[in-house]
Amino acid sequence: MEVVIAPAEELAVLAADTIEALLRRKPDGVIGLATGSSPLQVYDELARRHAEHGLSFAHARGFMLDEYVGLPAGHPERYRNVIERDIASRVGWAAELVQGPDGLADDVPAACAAYEAAIAAAGGVDVQILGIGTDGHIAFNEPGSSLASRTRIKTLTKQTREDNARFFDGDVDAVPVHCLTQGLGTIMAARHLVLLATGTQKAEAVHQLVEGPISAMWPASIMQMHPHATVLVDDAAAGRLQLAGYYRQTYASKAAWQSL
Ligand code: GLP
Repeated sequence: MEVVIAPAEELAVLAADTIEALLRRKPDGVIGLATGSSPLQVYDELARRHAEHGLSFAHARGFMLDEYVGLPAGHPERYRNVIERDIASRVGWAAELVQGPDGLADDVPAACAAYEAAIAAAGGVDVQILGIGTDGHIAFNEPGSSLASRTRIKTLTKQTREDNARFFDGDVDAVPVHCLTQGLGTIMAARHLVLLATGTQKAEAVHQLVEGPISAMWPASIMQMHPHATVLVDDAAAGRLQLAGYYRQTYASKAAWQSL
């Protein structure tokens, strides 16, 4: 696992560089898309590169991490609409090339199985962008999630619903109780994981992810088992890392030929 501690703008550039490098070597590369605040600067940077340098998403495929259950198709906080607004529409990404779990499916297990099959049929995810919840969740894999889980329905914790109420005019009761989410096993199958976290409210989750024991109590800690995981954090989110000095020294002395 590589930990990079830098200002948020630099982290966004590094993540965008990783996606750009993928699309230059593999125009039909598969990108795993996260919602939430954490990837927004990455999406801004990709939109800028699309507008100014013609970075093309014409053949790329996108797979979302998760989706709320039950939000109507036109709801602005439905994750499919969030992704359309935050990234897809800004980089000319055709709607049929970006998929998410179907939060309106009548047959939820079938929809989850179909989503796993779609990811597999695309050849798997090349670069997976991730945020992290304050309780250590990635996608919507709340504490207690099976470390081998696949796409399925989950119940959101009170903490997560409170954290996400800001997207629902501060009304926690408007935040759905259920979601469909890629499992930890699904996420672990992606070839490169790139997680972004900023702010002191993420510091404990980042500490547990990087330095804690691997445990379903801190679901992101499973990333310690991934052969190619990158954790991009600002000073505040790095505030509880015991080995922060070592991570800084390692990154500062990294060979020029090494990318993330
Ligand atoms: C949300 C999403 C996650 C996201 C996380 C952190 O609930 N389902 O994919 O990474 O919580 O969100 P944020 O980046 O807004 O802090």
